[in-house]
Amino acid sequence: MALSAVPAINVVALCGSLRKASFNRGLIRSAIQIGEESIKGMKIEYVDISALPFINTDLEVGGTYPPVVEAFRQKILAADCFLFASPEYNYSVTPPLKNAIDWASRPPNVWAGKSAAIVSAGGGFGGGRAQYHLRQIGVFIDLHFINKPEFFLAAFQPPQKFDSDGNLLDAQAKENLKAVLLSLLSFTSKLNGKRQASQALPSGFNAVEEQPARLPDAAIAGVSDTTHVRGHGVAEGDHGNASITDTSKLTLPPPSADQNASVKKKPPAKG
Ligand SMILES: Cc1cc2nc3c(=O)[nH]c(=O)nc-3n(C[C@H](O)[C@H](O)[C@H](O)COP(=O)(O)O)c2cc1C
Repeated sequence: MALSAVPAINVVALCGSLRKASFNRGLIRSAIQIGEESIKGMKIEYVDISALPFINTDLEVGGTYPPVVEAFRQKILAADCFLFASPEYNYSVTPPLKNAIDWASRPPNVWAGKSAAIVSAGGGFGGGRAQYHLRQIGVFIDLHFINKPEFFLAAFQPPQKFDSDGNLLDAQAKENLKAVLLSLLSFTSKLNGKRQASQALPSGFNAVEEQPARLPDAAIAGVSDTTHVRGHGVAEGDHGNASITDTSKLTLPPPSADQNASVKKKPPAKG
């Protein structure tokens, strides 16, 4: 296949802050600009999570989700990978981000088997503790995070990192952000390649074994043997995590007619 025919990696970017002049959303704007200007083969789309209701399983009626939730889940399902801009609130991820993660983890878990990167801007540690909590959440929802480079930006230390609208000013931070994006692109390509290779193998020889999107409740409650959670027969060099390889099996309830009207696709505010 000619290089130009290779489809771009589709990155969905999520921000854990709802603040208008959020520094973390500023990181996403900068990432989108860097992607457009200097990285081939990557398309970053910001998806706003502010309209999602607080998670409440009473809102799941007859096996369907509220339209705004359904539209968000479809965005996650269609993505190849994720860029989280995750501020730190009291040493952890913010409520809006956790809320969005939880909605997309409801059955079928639409995060499963995909790659992700995290960036953050915050206090002295630049949001680092929230990042490590997010990585921990990723274990259960089966997200594969890039390990390096890590990106933490101490937003309040001189020289000035952001303007008053939350636009990133710092040149070194932009370089570091680009390195994260390149790492995410490379890691996602490898993971997708493994998925495709696995699908091409005869049944019984899958390099990346499938597992249900969600473990049965009994397994969650009583699992002590981690082989229930980790896939058997995972190819050498793989991450060791079983993952969903065929997203067509992640059948969602039929979307409602007004779903597209409900999802906010507006780009982050420009400063
Ligand atoms: C409720 C709350 C808790 C916070 N806790 C932390 C914290 O534990 N560590 C930290 O570095 N910053 C903390 N901050 C400061 C945020 O990192 C800072 O406000 C940052 O700018 C938020 O990201 P944003 O600019 O994208 O909104 C907290 C802010 C709020 C509102």
